[in-house]
Amino acid sequence: MRPRTVAAATLAAATLLTPLTATAAPQAHPGHWPGHHWQPEAAAPLVVGHRGASAYRPEHTLASYELAARLGADVIEPDLVSTKDGVLVVRHENEISGTTDVAERPEFADRRATKTIDGVELTGWFTEDFTLAELKTLRAVERLPELRQESTVFDGAFEVPTFEEVLDERERLSKELRRDIGVIPEIKHSTYFDSLGLSMEEGVVRALEEHRLNRPGSGATVQSFELTNLVELRTELGLRADSVFLTSSTGAPADLVAQGDPRQYADLLVPSALRDLARHVDSLGPSLDQVVALEEDGTLGEETRLVDDAHAAGLTVVPYTLRPENQFLPVDYRLGEDPADFGRVLDLAQVYFEAGVDGIFTDAPDLGDVARDRFVAERDGQERAG
Ligand code: G3P
Ligand code: CA
Repeated sequence: MRPRTVAAATLAAATLLTPLTATAAPQAHPGHWPGHHWQPEAAAPLVVGHRGASAYRPEHTLASYELAARLGADVIEPDLVSTKDGVLVVRHENEISGTTDVAERPEFADRRATKTIDGVELTGWFTEDFTLAELKTLRAVERLPELRQESTVFDGAFEVPTFEEVLDERERLSKELRRDIGVIPEIKHSTYFDSLGLSMEEGVVRALEEHRLNRPGSGATVQSFELTNLVELRTELGLRADSVFLTSSTGAPADLVAQGDPRQYADLLVPSALRDLARHVDSLGPSLDQVVALEEDGTLGEETRLVDDAHAAGLTVVPYTLRPENQFLPVDYRLGEDPADFGRVLDLAQVYFEAGVDGIFTDAPDLGDVARDRFVAERDGQERAG
């Protein structure tokens, strides 16, 4: 796509999609994203395996995705960046020293560089400086070795997968497990890669097309923290699969910053902006604290208006990221003092489900699955009791 312009980034100026008419309620169907066809109150919330089953395996490896599906994830989540030769590969960021053994590889020592990505200066090794063949010689390592020590036994065991390999694995797992496993690729650093001539959006649409996933409700969903690419995916690039705008409680989309647009994420979440957004995407992916606030003392606070406002605008809501370790939990949901021990994550999931979310990203899909089943059983039991 490109070059991008301020006008292209402005929702009001962009070509508006005709909202899809709501159709009959789907069954609670694993892997089918809660897009415009979804009726939240009747369905079971989706469990999205965040970077696979990243509480238990090095993130973004085929082993992590496979485990996620086996543990009950409805959807697996690959984050996408580009190689030097334009291949979509799966990493949370393009700087890969935290999740691969690149720093231990003398043959790549001279690739170490300092760059500014989305306004942040980083020193390390970057996927855009490696061909796919070079990247394939690296091995994945656990990002959080202190916290997730058990996962470190897999350090060095797995490659960095391509997006294509993840889509193949999704198909294989769907057949073996006899249920559709969804896939929700996130395009990382869209504006940055575009500036290098390594735009990723076209490749994402092409891959979904080739795997017969480029249609609403296919189980494939495209996400981004940027807005311009999501609008262009719909209006120019032929994306028909569902899509999600990711947000955070602070900051602004990198594309808007690059274009001098002063809007922050918070400005894009007021009701009128949500209605505009719903013309272009199916869902919001906010951070958990945008759905249920955190108090200053670290305890869990009150529900915000976001789920209700988003639903009123026609958007479903799937927040990130439910993690089981104490380190990531509100202080009143921790058990014991060890940051690596698991806390009351089932109870915390219940809070979000009761807040009305349509799914949740989690590093521990087994716990998300148990929490979801418990929530649905209680909700449906209460409905039957009248
Ligand atoms: O895509 C949902 C969630 O993964 C966004 O956060 O930083 O883990 O990609 P991040
Ligand atoms: Ca992600």
